[in-house]
Amino acid sequence: MTMDRDRILLTPGPLTTSLRTKLAMLKDWGSWDADFNAVTAQLRARLLDIVHGQGTHTVVPLQGSGTFSVEAAVATIVPPGDKGGHVLVLDNGAYCKRAAKLTQLMGRRATVLPFAEEGPVSPAALDQALRGDASISHVVLIHCETGTGVLNPLPEVAAVCQRHGKGLIVDAMSSFGALPIDAREIRFDALIAASGKCLEGVPGMGFVVLRQEALARSAGHSQSLAMDLHDQHQYMEKTGQWRFTPPTHVVVALAEAVQQFIDEGGQPARLARYQDNCRTLVEGMAGLGFRPFLKPEVQAPIIVTFHAPASPAYDFKRFYAAAKQRGFILYPGKLTEIETFRVGCIGAIGRNEMAQAVNAVADTLREMGIASGAPAL
Ligand SMILES: Cc1ncc(COP(=O)(O)O)c(C=O)c1O
Repeated sequence: MTMDRDRILLTPGPLTTSLRTKLAMLKDWGSWDADFNAVTAQLRARLLDIVHGQGTHTVVPLQGSGTFSVEAAVATIVPPGDKGGHVLVLDNGAYCKRAAKLTQLMGRRATVLPFAEEGPVSPAALDQALRGDASISHVVLIHCETGTGVLNPLPEVAAVCQRHGKGLIVDAMSSFGALPIDAREIRFDALIAASGKCLEGVPGMGFVVLRQEALARSAGHSQSLAMDLHDQHQYMEKTGQWRFTPPTHVVVALAEAVQQFIDEGGQPARLARYQDNCRTLVEGMAGLGFRPFLKPEVQAPIIVTFHAPASPAYDFKRFYAAAKQRGFILYPGKLTEIETFRVGCIGAIGRNEMAQAVNAVADTLREMGIASGAPAL
């Protein structure tokens, strides 16, 4: 079969981008040039607006994938161990485990507070942990744990951290722009996201929303030159430029994507579209017998984990290849104990693409000789 349109990426980044966003990358930019500096400055201001951080926070962009920015936020905000840094990571999935690992690898003391993967982390358990260990200086929370798709209670976790006087670092990689985050009400030191997620840019840069007071205290924390957001911020404020070579095409694509985000109606409109995508997907897949891993009340409208069908004819690789042939890129599961696969609801797609994806899955099941998507349990 030949495809006359790009395949639809049902993945949580990279994801399907609009033609306007793709076209924005057809021009070359000088990294020192005033025109490019103006793009960076406007982009930073618009990203800050999305979380209402004017006057209190600042946005520092960083080259690389999302993990680079998580690492940079931890390295910049958390003092080294000998200066009292001790991070508590709330762990209900794969990206939480990654955050704990990178914290440790950077020489920070890290303690993990484990939770079940099928539910959110517990603010009450956090409260208890903070009461039990006064040495904890910072808490790391993954807002939407993309490993399963579960939504964690950011406002409640932030309130507990504030009560205890602890810094909060939020990985909002797969929620920023889609789920509401208001820096006037939710106290955090750093909140991290990236270009190729719910803002629907292309991958290649992250950015960190930093509370100015926390940033001002962070000089000299980072053991890494490239990851030092304090340094990146100072240089950018002074010169308008990125410290090291910027991903120019990624930056202008994100600026164009953010213009479309604003035109669409900002975060509420983005959330409404993704909720509609998620509903169309879950209802359509239920009609084929598939069951989501999460209960609806803890499911974020970002990515849905489905149980694999019980049929012995099911094989993810074949399932994936057959769906790909029909124009849709699915995503493997990230759970170790049970077999699952994931379907993203984000990107420059709407209800029609989700309905077409369900049709493609129905066709795929028929081709594989699977009568129903129902799991074993
Ligand atoms: C919650 C979360 N954290 C971090 C990341 C960063 O991953 P990467 O470095 O692959 O962009 C992702 C990517 O999907 C994510 O969903």
